[in-house]
Amino acid sequence: MQRRATNVVWHHGLVDRPTRERLLGQQGAVLWFTGLSGSGKSTVARQVEHDLLHRGRFAAVLDGDNLRHDLNADLGFSPEDRTENIRRVGAVARILAESGALCLAAFVSPYRADRDAVRERLDEGRFIEVFVDTPLAVCESRDPKGLYEKARRGEIKDFTGISAPYEPPLSPEIHLRTDGRTVAACAEEVVGELVRRGIIG
Ligand code: ADX
Repeated sequence: MQRRATNVVWHHGLVDRPTRERLLGQQGAVLWFTGLSGSGKSTVARQVEHDLLHRGRFAAVLDGDNLRHDLNADLGFSPEDRTENIRRVGAVARILAESGALCLAAFVSPYRADRDAVRERLDEGRFIEVFVDTPLAVCESRDPKGLYEKARRGEIKDFTGISAPYEPPLSPEIHLRTDGRTVAACAEEVVGELVRRGIIG
């Protein structure tokens, strides 16, 4: 990305991070849900958001389908556009995490390098990659939006898993196998991991 803005200076807040996190009672972090379309990323992220809010924690979901309606409405699904999608969303996720929120980002994000670029911009331990590992055949049989059917008919080009690649994480912090498990059980695993890591008490 070429930066065109010049003569701009970064402004810092009045509350430093330790103080912010003590006042909020949680550490800010990005939980990055990656996986095929229909794997359950958004569904699990929404359940985790629900569970965290009910524990008195502040969580917010960023979702691919939603953000492509406004912030990223100008982007398609070419490799370049997906990279730009993840770059923008990564910037928003970072702002949320640095403000002390638990940001739950649910994007196919098929390219390892794009996910790693987001990770690199966050402090150690504050990027938690959640690989929502659902076999393609299961995603395709769910086909909640009818997109796999269209992709198989050749009506959608560059469809992840069918005619575009998906690069699975090599060492995700959380490897979530959803097949045959309830949404509640998957969310519980994620929340449990946040407790184990000291992100929430
Ligand atoms: S990403 O690849 O750039 O991370 P993102 O998560 O924002 O994708 O959006 C994926 C969603 O867009 C899918 O859940 C699906 O509903 C829809 N979609 C439409 N076309 C495609 C496509 N060619 N590949 C993948 N998802 C697509």
